[in-house]
Amino acid sequence: MNVLIVYCHPSNKSFTCKLKDAFIKGLAKGGHDYEISDLYDMGFHPAMTESEYLFDSMGDRATYRLSGDIAKEQIKIQTSDAVVFIFPMFWSASPAMLVGWFQRVMTKDFAYGTDAQMDKLKKASCLVTMADDKTTEQGSAHINALKATMINSKIFTNAEQTEINVFDKLASDKLTQQEREALMEEYLKMAFELGENL
Ligand SMILES: Cc1cc2nc3c(=O)[nH]c(=O)nc-3n(C[C@H](O)[C@H](O)[C@H](O)COP(=O)(O)O)c2cc1C
Repeated sequence: MNVLIVYCHPSNKSFTCKLKDAFIKGLAKGGHDYEISDLYDMGFHPAMTESEYLFDSMGDRATYRLSGDIAKEQIKIQTSDAVVFIFPMFWSASPAMLVGWFQRVMTKDFAYGTDAQMDKLKKASCLVTMADDKTTEQGSAHINALKATMINSKIFTNAEQTEINVFDKLASDKLTQQEREALMEEYLKMAFELGENL
């Protein structure tokens, strides 16, 4: 498959970065081609400007144009079979830059509306890291919030298949250092396999 990875984490020293690298190695092993939008590395501008709002929401296509960085992201989507979002959970959501990526890239007539041009993806997948335990009330509430916004709202009907893969307990005080390291090793293996078998 042709895969677009949308990666968003402020630091390459993070575990999420290692997870992204393991996923990419898996993609290579599985014979997939990929392109990456590394939002921090690109210095992606997350806030919609007034002219973008007037173009998108007010539909003033005579005066305003689609911004160049957004047109590039839309081309990347159109040339991909699958989009994979890799990010840490920040306050029950994705980091701000990724929220902004959706707000700016998923424009009317591209991602939604009666004249929507976007081809349906075969797959949209999320790899999400988080500190909490997903089996606790708090952890599952965070995941449900993310599912509602990422899958039911932002991706919606634009993919045949959707999934959220959660890598939890990354800051659990119930784990010893040794257990934490073993968990991380297991997660890197899982990310590799998700890439290989995408
Ligand atoms: C601003 C901020 C908000 C966070 N919010 C949550 C949260 O709502 N739920 C959660 O389980 N972890 C939360 N975390 C922890 C991150 O998901 C954490 O970064 C993640 O476990 C991955 O570790 P990494 O940053 O080394 O990749 C938050 C971290 C930060 C910096």
